[in-house]
Amino acid sequence: MPSTITPSEKGYGYANFLTPTFFPLPFSANNKVSCGSCHLPERQFQDDLARAKGVGETARRTMPIAGTAYSPWLFWDGRKDSLWAQALGPLESGVEHGTDRAHVAHLVETHYADQYAALFGSIPPLDQVPDHASPNGVDVVLEEWLSLGETQRDVVNRVFANFGKAIAAFERTIMPESSRFDVYADQLAAGEETSGILTEQEVEGLRLFVGKGECTKCHNGPLFTDNYFHNTGVAEVSGLADDLGRSVGTEQVLADPFNCLGVYSDAGPGDCAELKYLAKAGHEMTRAYKSPSLRGVAGRQPYMHAGQIKTLGEVLVHYNTAPTAPEGHSELSPLKLSAGEVAALEAFLGALDPIAKEGGRP
Ligand code: HEC
Ligand code: HEC
Repeated sequence: MPSTITPSEKGYGYANFLTPTFFPLPFSANNKVSCGSCHLPERQFQDDLARAKGVGETARRTMPIAGTAYSPWLFWDGRKDSLWAQALGPLESGVEHGTDRAHVAHLVETHYADQYAALFGSIPPLDQVPDHASPNGVDVVLEEWLSLGETQRDVVNRVFANFGKAIAAFERTIMPESSRFDVYADQLAAGEETSGILTEQEVEGLRLFVGKGECTKCHNGPLFTDNYFHNTGVAEVSGLADDLGRSVGTEQVLADPFNCLGVYSDAGPGDCAELKYLAKAGHEMTRAYKSPSLRGVAGRQPYMHAGQIKTLGEVLVHYNTAPTAPEGHSELSPLKLSAGEVAALEAFLGALDPIAKEGGRP
């Protein structure tokens, strides 16, 4: 997969740097987990599991990556505000890669010193830095971090942040593929013949999607997402810790040293409007999650932030009945669509599959 990427001139070095790191294995506690273990290229960069498995099991479902270059907020709860800052999260998560920033810095120095230097300048000496250290670590890993001086911490943080920036440059090249809906929309916009591109049932589904179904309230724009957070009354998963969604994500992104306003950010003085004007989360953000893009959605069940709903048909039953939220308030009200209307909506969602993949889904 990486060899088929045509990197932009600016991204060329980044993508080169990244090609051996996104898929193969050295950046994890057990040498078995890479970003690509959960974000499988042949599965829309996700894994079809309800809850992702790395070094341990996570509490959320793996998200697809195509088009995330356009997302102002990353993760189901938006606790990161850029792709590069997002990439740092799984590396230090105890259930995903289970590694730490000092270890990442040493690995970059050992395996990619030249590529790194060509992009970011030489890595300052790391001989004072222990093999493992992080403010997010536990026990000795945390102790080692606390015993490091400011300068050493800054060196490690900078290599770590740049590692994230290289990964982000690669991720920005992953774009959604064209669907039959796109062909239909292009023909319509050009005033050309559209018959035969979508079935009658799919066209009815499209009308419901933008009309009575009210789907475009949240799933709008080219990626079928408003990039915002909503409580849609999705059930909790028993046995998992309480998940409050965006209300916690807001606090986390504001406190993140790798956010747009932080010292490792390349943002200019006029940038970071999203973060600067971020409203402190109120009650409406309790159990609110990012509206997912619906491109390719028919081919990646199960659904929702922890894989709570198994099939697309059941997702539509959820919207038709609008169950009460386990916490906070659902923004949905029952749609009361007929069985035929539900079937039409489901058919329309299938027309958002990449053309090449249609019919190939499980
Ligand atoms: C153990 C499986 C696993 C691994 C390994 C993993 N991810 Fe993820 N990824 C997830 C899960 C689960 C989520 C959603 C987590 C959440 O919302 O808390 C996610 C979310 C994301 C998102 C957010 C997409 C969006 O629309 O907001 C991006 C981007 C991403 N991962 C990239 C990466 C990169 C880069 C790496 C490697 C450094 C990586 N992931 C490693 C499982 C994984
Ligand atoms: C109020 C905003 C809102 C409206 C209206 C809405 N959605 Fe959603 N949709 C969301 C959010 C938020 C999620 C993720 C919820 C979660 O994971 O807890 C979601 C998830 C989904 C998913 C699962 C995608 C995935 O990858 O897990 C599908 C399919 C979907 N919506 C289709 C629709 C359709 C069809 C309609 C119209 C009948 C609709 N949505 C109306 C906000 C909305």
